[in-house]
Order: sequence, then structure tokens, then C-alpha cells
Amino acid sequence: MKLKILLIDDEVSILETLEMFFTEKGHQVFKAETGERGFALFCEHLPDIAIIDIHLPDSNGLEILTRIQNEGHLTKVIMITAYHDMETTIQAMKSGAFDYIHKPLDVDLVEEAIQRVTSMLEAEQVKLNDLPKPKNSNPDLIVGKSEQMRKIFKTIGLACQKRTTVLIQGETGTGKEVVARVIHRNSLYKNEPFVTLDCSSVVPSLIESELFGHMEGAFTGASRTQKGKIELAGNGTLFLDEIGELAYEVQGKLLGFLQRHEYMRLGGQETLKSNCRILAATNRDLFGMVNRNEFRRDLFYRLRVVIIQLPPLRERLSDIDELVDHFLQKINLKLHSGVLHVQDGVLERLKAHQWPGNVRELENVLVEAVVQTRGSVLLLDDIDTILCRYLQTEEIEGGPCSLDNMEKEHIRKTLDALNWRRTEAAQRLKISMPTLRSKIKKYNIKPSDGESYH
Ligand SMILES: Nc1ncnc2c1ncn2[C@@H]1O[C@H](COP(=O)(O)OP(=O)(O)OP(=O)(O)O)[C@@H](O)[C@H]1O
Ligand SMILES: [Mg+2]
Repeated sequence: MKLKILLIDDEVSILETLEMFFTEKGHQVFKAETGERGFALFCEHLPDIAIIDIHLPDSNGLEILTRIQNEGHLTKVIMITAYHDMETTIQAMKSGAFDYIHKPLDVDLVEEAIQRVTSMLEAEQVKLNDLPKPKNSNPDLIVGKSEQMRKIFKTIGLACQKRTTVLIQGETGTGKEVVARVIHRNSLYKNEPFVTLDCSSVVPSLIESELFGHMEGAFTGASRTQKGKIELAGNGTLFLDEIGELAYEVQGKLLGFLQRHEYMRLGGQETLKSNCRILAATNRDLFGMVNRNEFRRDLFYRLRVVIIQLPPLRERLSDIDELVDHFLQKINLKLHSGVLHVQDGVLERLKAHQWPGNVRELENVLVEAVVQTRGSVLLLDDIDTILCRYLQTEEIEGGPCSLDNMEKEHIRKTLDALNWRRTEAAQRLKISMPTLRSKIKKYNIKPSDGESYH
């Protein structure tokens, strides 16, 4: 691939070395010794790559980076930084530099960086013809076409038309809360409140008051009368999340409410009525809990008038294609990123993972990959690295994780933990400095940076 390359550096020797190096490979080179001149050349030629020194006589290289970014062209920027400049390097990556190389320049490293740009540019070009049409990314959309999901859509459709209690079961991250919201939004009372009570997050002694409310002076600390969630839900939906964690004593009171639609605030005399609809979710085996006397049998039967059992992601891998598409759009909206595609092989790699954290884990992996990538395509290598790290923390045996990747991750973690103090890292890893240096180079290890998403 022939490239247009712009070089901005005040060191003439560097300009000349790089020019010679690139011209020999058949690329077209433009060079400038100052930021202003460089930016002018950029506007004139719109190069594929700009290699910019951070320290320029008339301006800061980061400023030029930002100005180039603001032009909205697909130019990939590689910053040249000094070894001790970790702060600036991180800053550069955060500002959207594609890559960075250290001074003194090592031609092999420059070559590698250009290789990475080229594969990104090629991956981007392949996809340019099939840009997806912008869709409204709906946060309450349940994505999936698998047989299991189709059945679930049917049940949801039926459940929307009634006010019966629904029990939503599934492992963590399978979408229980999304299902609850979708049921509410498609019901006749969609304009009434949707109120959530996480039964695991409140101290057991307080949960009763959270549910039913309390009168002033009902217990120490009850300085004023407060409405409970049942009351706040009005004619809408009360979503009882993690119902399996509900204290045994309170389970009886909840059952009473479900049978009569009546309740009293704590310390109150008056019987109140509520028409709210209850949706409950759990990631525990509620039936098993019933058999161990940890959950009331009568309440269990009352809750499970309709049951929705969400399948783990590993049992519906065919939905991954559509989920990836959905999440990329959602992430782009939130992070103002422009990642539109995944490289060939990425979907297969994602389908080889076990997904103990289910759809949420998939979303997290994609967020991480989007934050890391410097182009509009997610590369297989990046995804593989992230998945291997997840695999390690999940401590699942097996999996297609290469030894190289394990090594890379171990070194990266150690460096990050030590704030990239290489000498200490080498000591801790029990390898020599040159070995560490060559491994950083071999694996292209970089300091992690992050952006907020959730
Ligand atoms: N089928 C799906 N389609 C689109 N997004 C989904 C789907 N399932 C889950 N998600 C997304 O995955 C994330 C986790 O979903 P959710 O919070 O509903 O899971 P959960 O089952 O309630 O998990 P937990 O048991 O850990 O609370 C959310 O960001 C949600 O939007
Ligand atoms: Mg949840």
C-alpha cells in the first residue's frame, strides 16, 4: 500500500532519515520543521499518516494533533515522544493518536507502527462500501434472533397485555432488567412509573420500610413519614430485583400484599391499596431455595404466574453478530466514537469465548476494544488480548488463549501496576532490562488508559 506520509519534527536529521526510509519503500513524503508549516501541508495533501514530534519550536505537537483531529479526515497520527515522557504519551493516546514511538528513533519500531496503520487503513477501506445506515439505538431493545430468544419475545408479548406477576430468571448479565423495562414500556400503563427495588442492596431490617413506607416515629431514625416503593409505583410497575435475597420475614408480608393488594406503612394504622404490577428477577435457583426452605414456597408460586428464563449467552452464540452490531452503535453514541466494523475473524473469536458474565460481559469487552482502537475497525488482535485477560480473571480452564498473549498480559499488568517504572518491572518479572525492552517492543505493549462509559 502506497501511503502519503507527513513528517513534522524540528530535528533535520530525523526528517531526513525518515524521508529516505519511506521514499525507499515507495511512499510519498512531505516534511516540515514547525507545527504551522506542518499543519499547512496537512491541509494541502491530507496524508494517510502524520508523524509528529511532541516538542516543536513554535507549538506543542499535541495541539497539532488536536487540530488535525478536528479536521475530521481519517489521517492516523503517530506521535514521537521522549522515553521519560510517560505523561505526555498517555495524553497523546487519550487525544486520539493512533500510536506513538519513542526517541531515539528505532527504525524497526517505526516500521512496525506503519505496519499497524496500514492494516488498519486496509481494514477500513474494505468496509467503506457497506457503511451501516444510522439507526436509533434503543437502550431498551432486546437483541436476538435465536430460537430461545424468539420464544422469550412471545412470552413477553403475552405478559405485556396482562397485569400478572412475572418472574424473570437468568444468570448475571443475561438481560433481566432490560426484559422488565421492555414489559413495562409495552404495557397499557407505560406512562405510569417504573420503580426498582434491589432486594440485595438494603439492610434486611430496612427493606420492609423501603417496600411499604413508614410513619414518622415508626422506628429510631424515622423522622418523617415516607412513602414506600409500592406507593411510588402507583398504577405502574414495581421491579423487585434480586428477589432471592429478600429477607425471609419480609417474604410473608410481600405475599400478603400480592394476595390482597393491600398494605400498611410501618407504624401506620390505615390500610392502603395499590394496583401496581410486580415483576421480579433473580439469578439464583429459586426453586432450589424453596426446597432448602430458604424461600417461601407460597410466595414462589405466587410470583411465577409467568416465568421468563433467559438463556446464558453461550447457549445462543448465533445472536453474537447482532449483539455486536447493536452495542457498537450504542457505544459510538455514548463515547462519540466511530467504530463501525470488526475485522474478519472477530465474530468467530467472540463465539469461542465462554461468556460467564453473559451479554454484559460482551458489552464490556466491546467498550474496552472501542476505547483502545485508533481506527474505525476492531482488530482481531485487540479482541483476543482483551478476551485472554477476561479468561485469566475468570479462571476458566482451557480456551484458545495463546501463551504469547498470557505473557503479554502479565508484562502489561506488571508495568501498569508500577506506573511503567521499567527497572522495577524487570526486577519483579525476574528478567533483564534488555529482555523487558524487547518484549515491550515485540508485543507492542502500551500503558492502559480508560474513558468512562457506564
Ligand atoms: N438481549 C439483549 N439485547 C441487548 N442488550 C442486552 C441484552 N441483554 C442484556 N443486554 C445489556 O446487557 C447489560 C446487562 O443487562 P441487565 O442489567 O438487564 O442484566 P441482568 O440480567 O439484570 O444482570 P444482573 O443479574 O447482573 O443484574 C445491559 O447493558 C443491557 O442493556
Ligand atoms: Mg440486574
